[in-house]
Amino acid sequence: MSEKLWGGRFSENTDAAVEAFSSSIDIDKRLYHHDVEGSIAHCRMLAKCEIIGQDEAETLIRGLEQIRVEIESGGFAFLDRLEDIHMHIEHRLAEIVGSTARKLHTGRSRNDQVATDIRLWLRDMTRQLLGGLHHFRKALVDMAESHIGVIMPGYTHLQRAQPILFSHYLMAYYEMFTRDAHRFEDGLKRINILPLGSAALAGTTYPIDRDYVADLLGFIGVSGNSIDAVSDRDFIIEFLGAASICMMHFSRLSEELVLWSSSEFGFVVIPDAFSTGSSIMPQKKNPDVPELVRGKTGRVFGSLVAVLTTMKSLPLAYNRDMQEDKVPLFDAADTLCACVDIYTRMFPALKINAPVMEGAVQTGYMNATDLADYLAAKGMPFREAHGCAGEAVRYAMEKNTELHELDIDELRSFSDLIQEDIFNLLTPRAMIERRCCFGGTSTGNVLEAIKRAHEQLAEDALILIEP
Ligand code: ARG
Repeated sequence: MSEKLWGGRFSENTDAAVEAFSSSIDIDKRLYHHDVEGSIAHCRMLAKCEIIGQDEAETLIRGLEQIRVEIESGGFAFLDRLEDIHMHIEHRLAEIVGSTARKLHTGRSRNDQVATDIRLWLRDMTRQLLGGLHHFRKALVDMAESHIGVIMPGYTHLQRAQPILFSHYLMAYYEMFTRDAHRFEDGLKRINILPLGSAALAGTTYPIDRDYVADLLGFIGVSGNSIDAVSDRDFIIEFLGAASICMMHFSRLSEELVLWSSSEFGFVVIPDAFSTGSSIMPQKKNPDVPELVRGKTGRVFGSLVAVLTTMKSLPLAYNRDMQEDKVPLFDAADTLCACVDIYTRMFPALKINAPVMEGAVQTGYMNATDLADYLAAKGMPFREAHGCAGEAVRYAMEKNTELHELDIDELRSFSDLIQEDIFNLLTPRAMIERRCCFGGTSTGNVLEAIKRAHEQLAEDALILIEP
C-alpha cells in the first residue's frame, strides 16, 4: 500500500517526478486560512449531527487551530509529496491528534473542499478589492470637485473635438470604476454559495446539515446540485471577467496619463515619487506607474483566457485540470489590487497644469459645432448648417486664424443668419455651459454628478462593513 492518504488501492509509491509535477502546494498554501475555517465548520456540523462525538470535534478543532498558528508563525513544513494544502493540513492533524484526525474527512471530498476554500478566499478578496476601488473612486470625485473650473479639450480620434470640464472627464472614469465595483459586488452573490456537502460529485450518505455549515461560514445559500458544485468555476471566470474590464479601464486612463505627461501635451505632471529616470538620458522622467499598469492589463486578460481555456470542454464533474485555476486567479487578483492601490496613492499627487489645458482649447476650431448649432437654431437644416460651418473653418484655416477671430462680415459671408451674438457663443466657457442636458459637461451638471457620486459612495460603503 502507498503511504498516501488515498493510498489504499495503490501497490506502489508515486514516482518522485510525478509528485513534483502534480504538487500545487506552492500555490494553494495561500488557502490555508480558509481551509482551516471550512474544516472547523465541517467538524462542528459532524458533531451536531452526531456523526462524530462532541469530544472528537473539540480535539479536531484544537488541532486545526494549532496548525493555523504553525503556518502563520512560519514553523510549518510544506512538502511536495503531500500534494496540496488540504493534504498537508490533514496529515499534520494526524501528527497532532492521532487517529481521530481520520474522521475529519467524513462525508467530504477534496473536490467540495477545494471549491469551498476558493469561494471563501474569493469572497474575502472581492471585499478587499471593493474597499480599494471605493478609495480610488473617492479620489476621482475629490479631484473632480477640487478642479471644477478647469477646462480642457475633449478628444475623439485623439483629435481636439469639443471643450469639456476636466472634472467631467474625471467623472467619466468615476462612472466606469463604479460599474466595475458593482460588477464585483454582483459576482459576490454567486461566489457566496456553499458547495461543501456535495462530496466527490454525487452527495454523501451521511445525514449532514449543509445549512448549518453555510450559516457557520457566512454563505448566503447552499448549492443545489452536487455535480455542478464541484465542477464549475464560472464564479472565478466572472471575477476574472470583471477584473479584466476594470484593468481595461485602468489601461485607458494610464495611456492618457502617459500622453498627457509628455512634453507634447504637458497637461499633467506625475510627481517624482511616482516616476523614474533613465540610466542613460539624464533629462528623462518616465511615467512608469501608468506604463506598468497598462502593461499588467495584458497579464490579467491572460488569466481570464487561461481559466476559460482550462474549463473549456472539461467533462463533468471534477477534473484535475481544474487545479490550474489558482495561478491565474491569484495572479490577476493580486495584480488588480496592486494597480488600484498605486493609483489611489498617485492620483491625489498628480499636478494638473490648468493653463496648458485651457490654452489647448483656444485653437483647433472646436467651436465649429456651435456655429452649426447656432445656424440650425435660426432655422437652417442641420446638415446645411454643418456644411456652412465647415466652409467657415476652411476659410479660417486658409487665413491661419480661428473662427472666433473672424470679423462679423467675414462670418456673414457664409450665412446672413449670423449676427453679433455669435461671438458670445463661440467661447470655450459658453460652449461648456450650454451643454447642460443631463449627462453633459456644463458646470451645473458636473456638480450634480459629483453630488450623486458622494451619495453613491456613501451607499456603497455599507457593503464594505458587512461581515
Ligand atoms: N489540489 C486539488 C485542486 O486544486 C484539490 C482537489 C483534488 N481532488 C482530486 N480528486 N484529486 O483542484
